[in-house]
Amino acid sequence: MNPNLNHLQPYPFEKLARLKQGIVPPTDKAHIALSIGEPKHITPHIIQEALITHMHGLSAYPSTRGLPELRQSMSEWIARRFQIPADLLDPETQILPVNGTREALFSFAQCLVEPSEKPLVLMPNPFYQIYEGAALLAGAQPYFLNTTEENAYLPDFDTVPESVWRRCQLLYICSPGNPTGAVIPQTQLEYLIELAERYDFVIASDECYSEIYADENNPPTGLLEAAVAIGNTEFKRCVIFHSLSKRSNAPGLRSGFVAGDAEILQRYFQYRTYHGCAMPVPTQHASIAAWRDEAHVVDNRQLYREKFSAFKDILSEATAVTIPPASFYIWLKTPVSEIQFAQQLFASENVTVLPGSYLSRPFNESDPGRNHVRIALVAPIYECIDAARRIKNFIHTL
Ligand SMILES: Cc1ncc(COP(=O)(O)O)c(C=O)c1O
Repeated sequence: MNPNLNHLQPYPFEKLARLKQGIVPPTDKAHIALSIGEPKHITPHIIQEALITHMHGLSAYPSTRGLPELRQSMSEWIARRFQIPADLLDPETQILPVNGTREALFSFAQCLVEPSEKPLVLMPNPFYQIYEGAALLAGAQPYFLNTTEENAYLPDFDTVPESVWRRCQLLYICSPGNPTGAVIPQTQLEYLIELAERYDFVIASDECYSEIYADENNPPTGLLEAAVAIGNTEFKRCVIFHSLSKRSNAPGLRSGFVAGDAEILQRYFQYRTYHGCAMPVPTQHASIAAWRDEAHVVDNRQLYREKFSAFKDILSEATAVTIPPASFYIWLKTPVSEIQFAQQLFASENVTVLPGSYLSRPFNESDPGRNHVRIALVAPIYECIDAARRIKNFIHTL
């Protein structure tokens, strides 16, 4: 067996199941799950209809590159959303469909990393655990960039030693961030692209929360936008990852894309051909409908805003609550350890939240997940309101 498998950590939800094991929560309070980042709003009808209408597409093997009209719909969306001139991104060579960003974020490292060079893969901490597993199974060592309140929950790239940059082959960034909701400003992205050029590494920009943001007039900036701003119009060393899971409430569709550097995507295309992960044709048609429609995305954001606002109004009576600029998470500071908080909250109020340390690693003498829990406002608003009241009551007992 691949010895690197031994380095993989249990997934956060396995740890959470163990934490809750044997506890019997009060039976008069219905369970509210705010732990998993699975959107619960309705998948728009246009997506469901397109899927059903194209069921006959199951009779054909899909191609790895996907239908030209799918890649066209993605490139038009990128141009609209990030104000990138439409002719800069060639859907023939610079976009590939993926079956959700999870598999792509994982397989990208397998394709990209050169293991004999003692490679480092840099990533934020706390983080989406796939980055770490992808690095380890690709034969690289993860190097963490702690995101703490002091640095506005953003990685501080200036603290990374030069020796680390020299060994860095791949940098994962997550903006808007899971679990903090922090957005990396465009100037930082531009700086990163310059670093990538100087030290010859690739930036994998996980932007799967880019469409869930608080200020309708201030959408999060993206890596390709930053590349264009500094004249990197071929998107050298830049690859973005986008998903319909959060944007369009379609986590079960398994649909997203990667876009950027044509040379990298050519090799990644070759990798994917062997990996065997083409997107089924009906899914492709449903995805076209989704990328072409923006109205459902605007409505979706509004639903989250209402939940954030109601949740904050109630919980602020017990503790400081900050609504993040983007994502559907609240990264709440806990008055006791995050483990104790999550366990006792479940035991007394039947509400599940995720201890921050299940999403982080101790690094450079600190663990940025400590004393935080991640609260995913995915449940319907009445449940979020109920949960806020119960968490408030619970904090008052501490
Ligand atoms: C930061 C981040 N990236 C990627 C994903 C994967 O999303 P999907 O595979 O549904 O596109 C998730 C899912 O929760 C996530 O939180």
